[in-house]
Amino acid sequence: MQTVHSLDPLRRSVSALRQSGTGSGTIALVPTMGALHEGHLTLVREARKRADHVVVSIFVNPLQFGVNEDLDAYPRQLERDCALLEPEGVALVWAPTVEAMYPQGFATNVGVTGVSDGLCGASRPGHFDGVATVVCKLFHQVLPDIALFGEKDWQQLAVIRRMARDLDLTRPHVDNVIGVETVRETDGLARSSRNAYLAAEERAQAVTLPTAMKVAIAAIESGEPVGQTIAALEAALIAGGFASVDYAELRDAENLDLLGARSERPMRLLVAARIGKARLIDNMAVAPSA
Ligand code: PAF
Repeated sequence: MQTVHSLDPLRRSVSALRQSGTGSGTIALVPTMGALHEGHLTLVREARKRADHVVVSIFVNPLQFGVNEDLDAYPRQLERDCALLEPEGVALVWAPTVEAMYPQGFATNVGVTGVSDGLCGASRPGHFDGVATVVCKLFHQVLPDIALFGEKDWQQLAVIRRMARDLDLTRPHVDNVIGVETVRETDGLARSSRNAYLAAEERAQAVTLPTAMKVAIAAIESGEPVGQTIAALEAALIAGGFASVDYAELRDAENLDLLGARSERPMRLLVAARIGKARLIDNMAVAPSA
C-alpha cells in the first residue's frame, strides 16, 4: 500500500494501478476524513468486491467545517488509519496536504441547491458546498470508476449524486456513486463515532431512535397520516430519553423534497435528535405507495 500527499505522485500511482493486475484495472474511491472506524472499513470491503483497486482518500476538509465547528480538534491519525487500511487490501492512500488541495488563491465553490437545504444543511450553513467542492476535486484527481459513500449520511449522498448528474461526470458516472447500507449494532442503533459520547444509560435509551423510526415507517406504509405519525415519532423519542429532536421528516429519497403524504416514488424518513452530548442521525427507506 502506497501513501501519497501531492497531485503528481497521485496521478502517476493511479495510472500505474490502471495498468497493473489481471483485471481491467478498475478503480474504486472511498473518500474519508480519516479517524477510520468499522463503518469506513465496510465501505472499503464493498469497494474491493466491486473494483480491481481501492483508493482511500484521507483529508480533513476545512471547507465543510462551520465557524463554530472545531476544525483543529478533529482527530488526525494518519499512521493508525493506514495500519487499518493495509490489511484490507487498499492499494493507495491519497492524503493531500491542505496546500495541495487548496493552493493559494483557490476560489471555486461547488454548490448544489435544493438537496443541500434543510435537514443537516439547516444547522450547518455552507457545509454541503464544502463537501461538494472537495468531492468534485477528489473525483477529478483520482478519476475512479466507482465511488462509495455510507447511506448513513443520506443527504450528503444525495448532494454528491446530484452534483455528479448535473456536471455530467463520467468518472464516476452518477450511477456509479454507490451508497452502502448503514452498519447497525445488534439492537439496531446505527454505528457512529458519536455513540462513544453516550453514557451507559443514554446508550440504552438511544435504541429508541431506530425502534421508533421503524414504528413510524410501518404506520406510514399502512396509510396513517404522515403529520400525525411524525408527531408520534417525536413524542416517542422524547419519552425514550432524547432531549430534543432537530428534525424528523419524510422526504423524497432522491431530490429530498419534503413530503406531507406517502408518495409513489422511493422515500426516506430522516431524523436527527440529541441525547446527552451526542446528536444522532439516522435514515431509513419508506416503501412507495402502489
Ligand atoms: O463523509 C465524509 O467523511 C466527508 O464528508 C467526505 C465525503 C469525505 C468529504 O470530505
